Amino acid sequence: MKDMYTEKVLDHFRNPRNIGEIKDADGIGTVGNPVCGDVMTIYIKVKNDIIEDIKFKTYGCAAAIASSSIATELVKGKTLDEALKLTRNDVAEELGGLPAYKMHCSNLAADAICKAIKDYKKKKNK
Ligand code: FES
Repeated sequence: MKDMYTEKVLDHFRNPRNIGEIKDADGIGTVGNPVCGDVMTIYIKVKNDIIEDIKFKTYGCAAAIASSSIATELVKGKTLDEALKLTRNDVAEELGGLPAYKMHCSNLAADAICKAIKDYKKKKNK
């Protein structure tokens, strides 16, 4: 476990991918981080069980922004089942590691994606 941010974390923090909002999203998931109070929302567009588009908005620290950015890249184009398997460790690993005290920040992304998928499924079954 590293004490400092990797170059990849800094890159995704400075140039976040898929940032923003999808107005006609098929699923939306918002989660708050109990450790620090930060909040993240994920928007997804789904077609044939595949995440066609994904965007995020985060009120959070650098690690939360970088985690959201990389997590959206990891699940874009994946099936819903594949996306549901994303864990905070996958996110942290893809970023080249996060400082131990920042691991909780990577929870937000995986949790918000999971919530957005559940929201989509709930709406679809109505
Ligand atoms: Fe809140 Fe990182 S300190 S998400």
